[in-house]
Amino acid sequence: MSSKKVLVTGGAGLIGSHLVDLLLKEGHNVTILDNLEPQTHPHGKPEWIPNRQDVRFIHGDMRSEKEVLEALKGVEWVFHQAAFGGFTTALTQYIDVNSTGTARIFELIREHKLPVEKMVMASSQAVYGEGVYSCLEHGPQYPAMRSRGQLMHSQWESRCVQCDQPMLPGLTPETAPLRGETIYAISKLAEERLCIGMGKQLDIPTVALRYAVTYGPRQSIFNPYTGVVSIFSTRLLNDLKPVLYEDGQQTRDFLYVADNAAANLFVMQRPETAYQVYNVGTQTPTRMVDLVSTLATLYEKPLEADFPGSFRPGDVRHFVHDSSSLYQLGWQPVVSLEQGLSHYVEWIRAQGNVKEYFESAMKRLEEMQVVIAPHKVATS
Ligand SMILES: NC(=O)c1ccc[n+]([C@@H]2O[C@H](COP(=O)([O-])OP(=O)(O)OC[C@H]3O[C@@H](n4cnc5c(N)ncnc54)[C@H](O)[C@@H]3O)[C@@H](O)[C@H]2O)c1
Ligand SMILES: [Zn+2]
Repeated sequence: MSSKKVLVTGGAGLIGSHLVDLLLKEGHNVTILDNLEPQTHPHGKPEWIPNRQDVRFIHGDMRSEKEVLEALKGVEWVFHQAAFGGFTTALTQYIDVNSTGTARIFELIREHKLPVEKMVMASSQAVYGEGVYSCLEHGPQYPAMRSRGQLMHSQWESRCVQCDQPMLPGLTPETAPLRGETIYAISKLAEERLCIGMGKQLDIPTVALRYAVTYGPRQSIFNPYTGVVSIFSTRLLNDLKPVLYEDGQQTRDFLYVADNAAANLFVMQRPETAYQVYNVGTQTPTRMVDLVSTLATLYEKPLEADFPGSFRPGDVRHFVHDSSSLYQLGWQPVVSLEQGLSHYVEWIRAQGNVKEYFESAMKRLEEMQVVIAPHKVATS
């Protein structure tokens, strides 16, 4: 394939930076647009941003028309990774960066007749809310989000609408209802629908990838609001117990960052992916308690998790994608969780002394009710 001029928004971040490396390896010319969000990059430009002629780094913001236009000029492919994420109180920032920022890309493409040929955007499993579950007696169903009252009583599992029994989670396909209720989920859903809808209107093929939980080297070790592998790791390395929400039995699908980057390039190169939405994951559930114990073993820290019984309203109990439509097209993850975590551990060990930012962030999140600690609510 011929060399392309490619924009990676958020190219200083976890997924974006691995995608940049992959694109350079394949001989493409890369522009990075990244505002070096202080929560993620408190020390500015990370050392992994390549300093070479075929890479243009723009320290710019999705909220700036001028900077986004500068980044888009002359570009043929866009990988839109820049976003504000995690569970925080900055409600408007999610919409401004993720939703309005994405609208800005299309506004500029249209106004300036920019020659963008295709765009792949980073959506998230968050858009679904709870996925598919099954009651032993009443079969599969898509439950509503768990109520605050239910969570206050530590009833963590989703329950059957007919018999109120806890249900078992399944693999959630792309056709599932989209019921995410966090501000992040809502901003990502708007971003996703904007990409598909505006792509069709402007006749620019667009693809949305709903990523599973992605981890790996370069995941910010400074951001206490997102990136569970880094959050647990910085706790363990400082001899502190990782804090688990609920009872730690909740499950997620963990995808290694290089597999995620490969999925992005794969769909960009396939014409049949135009205007499609794909789940990108490993189809393998991992319990949070097991993630903690695997990491504790890798760091040789005999610490168990702490369970204060707190929860995050809007959080889902279990979520694993059905990624079979992308598998059928020809992409599959190749790195196991054990291998991926070993790569991550090797990387974080090379970062010198890492600090712990979770403790103070947690206090504020509890104050602002982004995290609820029922015993504290009851006594205050
Ligand atoms: N990592 C995951 O588990 C996961 C899961 C689902 C979806 N996603 C999505 O994947 C994309 C990449 O995520 P990541 O894990 O690499 O996160 P990340 O935080 O490591 O990278 C995001 C990058 O975007 C930049 N950014 C943030 N706000 C910006 C703004 N206003 N203008 C320009 N740049 C800005 C940040 O500085 C950062 O470098 C995001 O869109 C995210 O929503 C990630
Ligand atoms: Zn039932």
